[in-house]
Amino acid sequence: MLPVLNLIAEDGQPELADDLDLNFAGVDTQYATHAIHPYIAAINPPLARTLVEHYVPLRETLLDPFCGGGGVLVEAVLRGRQGVGYDVNPLAALISRVKTTPLPTRRTIHEYTRVLDEAQALARNSACSTVPKVISYWYNEDTVPLLFALQSAISHVEDGQVRELFQVALSATAREVMLTYRGEVRLRRLQGPDLERFKPNVFASFRRRTELGIGRVAQLPANAHASAEVGDARGITDDQKFHSVITSPPYADDTNGVGYFQFSRNMLYWLGYSLDALKEQRKFFLGCSGSHIVAVPPSGTLARTLDLLAQKGTYRRQALSFYQDYYAALVRLARVVEEQIIIVIGDRVLGRTRINNGHITTEMLDSVGFGLQHYYTRELKKKRIANLGGDGGGTSIEHILVYKRR
Ligand SMILES: C[S@@+](CC[C@H](N)C(=O)[O-])C[C@H]1O[C@@H](n2cnc3c(N)ncnc32)[C@H](O)[C@@H]1O
Repeated sequence: MLPVLNLIAEDGQPELADDLDLNFAGVDTQYATHAIHPYIAAINPPLARTLVEHYVPLRETLLDPFCGGGGVLVEAVLRGRQGVGYDVNPLAALISRVKTTPLPTRRTIHEYTRVLDEAQALARNSACSTVPKVISYWYNEDTVPLLFALQSAISHVEDGQVRELFQVALSATAREVMLTYRGEVRLRRLQGPDLERFKPNVFASFRRRTELGIGRVAQLPANAHASAEVGDARGITDDQKFHSVITSPPYADDTNGVGYFQFSRNMLYWLGYSLDALKEQRKFFLGCSGSHIVAVPPSGTLARTLDLLAQKGTYRRQALSFYQDYYAALVRLARVVEEQIIIVIGDRVLGRTRINNGHITTEMLDSVGFGLQHYYTRELKKKRIANLGGDGGGTSIEHILVYKRR
């Protein structure tokens, strides 16, 4: 195993107040629109708030090229900054948009009542379409027609922003009523007594989710301004310019790391996405393109790690494919950002080899003219993660890396 070295920031001292506990133990994370929808590997909201307030001046624009559930963008709009987000996952882009779009209740309440009435009527007379096995496996039989009824009633909402709010509530509902264990990174179907005890109520869950959403988006600052679109971080064009990037990139590709795709598939299915369309989208996740490996990106730590993986005969190719894509994204970011790039990332363990993402990111960004200015760490709670070729993966320390243009 490689030694885990401390990263040394260029000016030595961390800039945030020494007594600031970046673990934010016991601090509420479910305030404002953060609570509307859970997202896998979401950034800690108080951490995002600290970084936005400390590093991005008022009214400046920040980019989150891997915006996920929108944690960073929400903090941007709450703190008077502008946010632009991209994510290859359509669910992530949708959630991020909804969490950052203020909607007064007069636009939502009436439609909400109508959707509920229509869905209830539809559920009573349901002639249900068939659901693919990979989806129906995760639901009770009587849940399925109710999810269809909500999907159909929501599709008739004319106001696009209101419709998206209800879609987010429906997707959170679809997650809530799924027959899966909670708090785990990968899906695992409930078994035995756990399955028997679980009595999901689709409409109750949808009502709770929607009412929470309606209340929270109404409280966003009226001038909140963010955009969040489906897009590949490697494709951000030079005509866009941002003061800063704040982002937590994917920790590894979707096939051998955090299952962003698996996490989202069922929820997107209930929003009308076909499984084929989702499969296509999956190719754009970092490390999933199966593209030709051209060269090892400029990082000595990565080269040594890949040698270790090669000696063990495991995972070299997957790791290289991921880091090649990650490097391509960092190169893009270096071209569109004016001041700084802030990366929040944990380490990975692959085939019993620790992969030091802090070092690798630092060396790659160094090659494109960004030096590490401040470095902080925080503890990351391990979640149960599927077995990855022997010992499984996991993270325990999160690196918070602030790079300045040289
Ligand atoms: C760690 S998550 C980001 C979490 C986010 N900060 C939050 O608070 O929810 C990483 C995200 O990167 C996205 N992603 C993976 N490959 C991508 C790519 N090529 N371009 C843009 N986003 C990508 C995944 O869909 C995932 O949502």
